[in-house]
Amino acid sequence: VHSSLLCVLVCVCVCVSLSARQECRSHTQSASKWPSYFGQLGQFILSSWVWLAWVGDGAGVLLVLTTFQVPMFMVQVGQSNLYRSEDYGKTFQDVTHLINHTFVQTEFGIAISPDHSGKVILTCDLSEIGGFRLFRSQDFGVSFVPTDLPFEPLIQMLYNPGDCNVLMTLSVMLDLWLSEDFGATWRKIHDSVCLVRWGPKNSIYFTSNSNGSCNDKGVLELWRTRDYGRSFQTIATRVFSFVLGGRFVFASIMTGMGTERMIHVSVDGGDIWNMAQLPTVNHEQFYSILAANQDMVFMHVDDPGDSGVGTIYVSDNRGTVFSKSLERHLYTTTGSDSDFTTISSLRGVYMTSVLTQEGTVKTVITFDQGATWQTLRRPQNSHCDSETMTNRPYRCSLHIHASYSTSMKMNVPMLPLSQASAVGLILAHGSAGDAESVLSPDVYVSDDGGYSWLLTLRGPHQYAVLDSGALLVAVEHTTSPVNQIKFSTDEGRCWHVYNFTNNPLHFSGMDSEPGSRSLNVSLWGYRNDFSKWVVTTIDFRKLLNRDCGEEDYVQWLAHSVDPSNPNDGCVLGYKERFLRLRKDSVCWNGRDYSATRQLSPCPCTLDDYHCDFGYYRPENSSECVEQEEMKGRPLEFCLNGTTEELQTSGYRKIPGDQCEGGFQPERKEIDLKKMCTSNTLHPKSLTENSSPHTAVIVMVVMAILLMSAVAGVWLVKKYVCGGRFLVHRYSVMREHVEANGIQGVDDVDTHYMETGKTQYLDDSDQDLLE
Ligand SMILES: *[C@@H]1O[C@H](CO)[C@@H](O)[C@H](O)[C@H]1NC(C)=O
Ligand SMILES: *[C@@H]1O[C@H](CO)[C@@H](O)[C@H](O)[C@H]1NC(C)=O
Ligand SMILES: *[C@@H]1O[C@H](CO)[C@@H](O)[C@H](O)[C@H]1NC(C)=O
Ligand SMILES: *[C@@H]1O[C@H](CO)[C@@H](O)[C@H](O)[C@H]1NC(C)=O
Ligand SMILES: *[C@@H]1O[C@H](CO)[C@@H](O)[C@H](O)[C@H]1NC(C)=O
Ligand SMILES: *[C@@H]1O[C@H](CO)[C@@H](O)[C@H](O)[C@H]1NC(C)=O
Repeated sequence: VHSSLLCVLVCVCVCVSLSARQECRSHTQSASKWPSYFGQLGQFILSSWVWLAWVGDGAGVLLVLTTFQVPMFMVQVGQSNLYRSEDYGKTFQDVTHLINHTFVQTEFGIAISPDHSGKVILTCDLSEIGGFRLFRSQDFGVSFVPTDLPFEPLIQMLYNPGDCNVLMTLSVMLDLWLSEDFGATWRKIHDSVCLVRWGPKNSIYFTSNSNGSCNDKGVLELWRTRDYGRSFQTIATRVFSFVLGGRFVFASIMTGMGTERMIHVSVDGGDIWNMAQLPTVNHEQFYSILAANQDMVFMHVDDPGDSGVGTIYVSDNRGTVFSKSLERHLYTTTGSDSDFTTISSLRGVYMTSVLTQEGTVKTVITFDQGATWQTLRRPQNSHCDSETMTNRPYRCSLHIHASYSTSMKMNVPMLPLSQASAVGLILAHGSAGDAESVLSPDVYVSDDGGYSWLLTLRGPHQYAVLDSGALLVAVEHTTSPVNQIKFSTDEGRCWHVYNFTNNPLHFSGMDSEPGSRSLNVSLWGYRNDFSKWVVTTIDFRKLLNRDCGEEDYVQWLAHSVDPSNPNDGCVLGYKERFLRLRKDSVCWNGRDYSATRQLSPCPCTLDDYHCDFGYYRPENSSECVEQEEMKGRPLEFCLNGTTEELQTSGYRKIPGDQCEGGFQPERKEIDLKKMCTSNTLHPKSLTENSSPHTAVIVMVVMAILLMSAVAGVWLVKKYVCGGRFLVHRYSVMREHVEANGIQGVDDVDTHYMETGKTQYLDDSDQDLLE
């Protein structure tokens, strides 16, 4: 073990000659113009954990924390080193002296403030003298101030997203501690706290048990404080768990005497609660919130039995009335794996997988926030597996590999990638055919938000978007050493190859500054002797050496499918025109680039409506049809304590839709002037009869809540030293839960999974509402 601590990464400072090879005839650039810069880094002591954290936005500051930890006599003994780069990872300085060589606990890693103000916290374990110490920096890690903590922390410091000078954390005694001066002084504001979250406007939500045990979940109280713990309100009782997402607070509440739970929703931060109107489920099923925004949530409802599928429902803008969006949605009960993906490069677009009656997996996509779903169009340049195997070529479509494939241990090194700054662009692994194939997937690209696709790279790759989409880079995912990076300046139509080293390395992963505006990309790997980490940073500024001018951009209508239709491009009530980079322009968008967009309103059509509660859209139809089992049973639901009857012709405007005029179906909510129970929060009201449509919710899993943008954090784990262990482990943790997949050559041990998950949870508001 000791000798392995001494393994040192050798600084390989190589200037590689240009070898960009033109693979694509359509490109006219001369090869000598392509990347000529090759950066290198300092030395790292090889260690079991490597954290990479970008500090600030556009500052180019990268902190790397390496920690070697061994269990010894029941305690963890370890050593940490801290390195800092100011030039996007080209050179590193060993700044371990700034933290006085103190051991930083792997569980806590580096906590970066989400407001890009350069605040950094390291939580250190002073095992030899006992106690915990914070090292705090407010200047992008140039200097650190030590502060001893009056308690032992259980979780990482949680920044108030509204004011990053305010921090809170839980102690191992389940006390809630708060600091209003960036960690200098701390005060205890509550005890017996089970789960805590920052809410909007400096509010804190937490569950607490007066007995002090968090195991007995159905008896918890949900508390809220809006003045940093000077006063508290109990906003719900008999709580199992809770979650915050978009404008909504969801809580699962025990009903009556039984073991059943029911979801309650509040849109005013927890003062008024209403029961969510969802179909009833039994105790073996679960509910899961797939995505939430300011307007609505996507809710998955598990089917009875261990079918691995369920139905997606979309909510109204109050989170109370839901309508059916997609049936046979794949969501495994055991692994909790769903392919549900929010496409951030085009509004209204989501992708996921369904399990067909025949038991095959198919990818479907919606362009209108869940109103209609369809299979992906077949890529023009890809032949269909099914054509050779079956006689049903018309069924051929593209299928995307996401979390489900990763969980099935398929060779899919990355989940689908889309970035808000790169309008319309999606990169994903997939296969074309009747259904999802188990063969090695290829990389496909879409430049119009998922309407059309192109086979772009054969075989699995790791990929990244740079300079807001002006440049794509990819490295082949293989078990043999690599020395080539591929890049494309035309959204994946042509790829060029650059040999970044003469001495190939085992490639672990690729990282660039979050936000995809950088032109610097770092490749992490190791050489054949397994003893050193090698990091090379490639600056593509010499390739995109010209600033883009007006003539480099062309107007593009988002969601355009039929230019002859006057309503072409209308989605959620408006058209969006972007100025996008021409494919044949090789130039630099720049860090401050954001696509110019122009909005124009649309008249309302059927497409601006979700089917209302009790209605559904048959395949290929935009009209909503009443569900057989709901005929003649008008929906009555309870809102604010009085019964409302829903009178609907089957359509409900999509939350957030801005269409004007046009199709305006009738929809009324009539107050029946009858008292009812709109929530079961207070035991007394339980004796009153409840509505027949109340939902019994047993378990809600909050799967993806992209609430806070967290600074991109990397986590690299490596056991190998001196070639004694032949496994190499590596993972990336970023602001997206989708990107929290396993990127390594091998699969990952449970220790990593546990720790990685914990860190993820603390960082990014991935919530479990059970
Ligand atoms: C680049 O690397 C590949 C192998 O990885 C090699 O075949 C090729 O000759 C190299 N090109 C140059 C110009 O060195
Ligand atoms: C650094 O650690 C040493 C011994 O562990 C201690 O004597 C010294 O005071 C520490 N320095 C600072 C600045 O904390
Ligand atoms: C918590 O307190 C309640 C009564 O206040 C009691 O019934 C219950 O058994 C206690 N639970 C534990 C775990 O002590
Ligand atoms: C790439 O890194 C250099 C520093 O080495 C920096 O000056 C430059 O701004 C970075 N480029 C981008 C686009 O971030
Ligand atoms: C839906 O449309 C597709 C292609 O237009 C067709 O192949 C399929 O059979 C249709 N489905 C139904 C149920 O009509
Ligand atoms: C419920 O009642 C509150 C005040 O009691 C009111 O502000 C709110 O708008 C009501 N909500 C609905 C949906 O009627």
